[in-house]
Amino acid sequence: DKGNYRHFMAKEIHEQPEVIGHTLSRYLDLAARKAKVPDGMAVDFSGLTRLVMSACGTAYYAGLVGKYWFEKYARLPVEIDIASEFRYRELPVNPGEMALFISQSGETADTLASLRYCKAAGLTIGAVVNVPESTIAREADLVFPTIAGPEIGVASTKAFTCQLSVLASLAILAGRQRGVLTADQEAELVGALSEVPGLALKALALEARIEKLAPGLSRASDVLYLGRSTSYPLALEGALKLKELSYIHAEGYAAGELKHGPIALIDENLPVIVIAPHDAIYEKTVSNMQEVAARGGRILLITDEKGAEASGLADRDRILMPALSEIVAPIIYSIPIQLIAYHVAVFMGTDVDQPRNLAKSVTVE
Ligand code: F6R
Repeated sequence: DKGNYRHFMAKEIHEQPEVIGHTLSRYLDLAARKAKVPDGMAVDFSGLTRLVMSACGTAYYAGLVGKYWFEKYARLPVEIDIASEFRYRELPVNPGEMALFISQSGETADTLASLRYCKAAGLTIGAVVNVPESTIAREADLVFPTIAGPEIGVASTKAFTCQLSVLASLAILAGRQRGVLTADQEAELVGALSEVPGLALKALALEARIEKLAPGLSRASDVLYLGRSTSYPLALEGALKLKELSYIHAEGYAAGELKHGPIALIDENLPVIVIAPHDAIYEKTVSNMQEVAARGGRILLITDEKGAEASGLADRDRILMPALSEIVAPIIYSIPIQLIAYHVAVFMGTDVDQPRNLAKSVTVE
């Protein structure tokens, strides 16, 4: 049932404040200001030497954001790869490592094969899954549910932000268990995450502004997305969403890679979407953006007030987000990225909920 929405995807985008709230309520103890695992579960990250992660598509991008979090907040090294590569790589794994797989459907063939590879090697298997009765959930030792509810639109939206919410919480938990985060630091991070549902609502309020940008973007034959750090996986996700929904060719790049090749593409016909909250590395991204501007590139900057001020760009070239703490930013910046792809596709008249050639659950390799 689409309710009052035109598409399942629109409904699912708008459900995010609620379903992220449901998901976080399982992983955060707000009274104690601590991260936790769902009731009845136990997990111990303390003695791990490495976390090995694998997934496909959007779920893989959630894992990539998770990598930055586990490494930063828990000093836990992460190895991550797309499952179709991971399963054939013959990655050496050792006791003392944990494996973590991420999947909305819990049925993706390559992700399942990667899980079985790690299981055969004797690792503890964790799975962040949305469908609790799925094969991946059944075969995992530790199931970390996302409480996104059924996702009908083929393009993943609410499952992605719920995956991010789980991974952020687990990274904080791991940070405490590994003696990296103090109680005060944990309390601050948990407090920040607890504000995500409200902030997601604020981000959704940008929809009318984003809808107005759609006609301009729809005329492009290619779009480049740039970001650094946790905004880099978001650039990849933005490009994937635009490709699959609008059939416009798009690529996500780490902003620092621009000068190593893709800068050759820049001209007045190539929109460049820059994802850059005003964080510790903002200045670096701005200098990449100036390289684009100097070559006549069309920039659309997604940033906050401080970032907008420092950018020197005109209002029409930016989407203004609320100021966010670092751990929250990737979750909330996902929303304008989803809305851009959605509105470009709606404007172009493509089949938003069922894009050509795609299946919701990829059970073949
Ligand atoms: C993109 C998308 C796909 C899935 C991928 C993994 O919008 O939906 O890239 O993320 O096929 O699917 P799951 O999460 O079911 O393993």
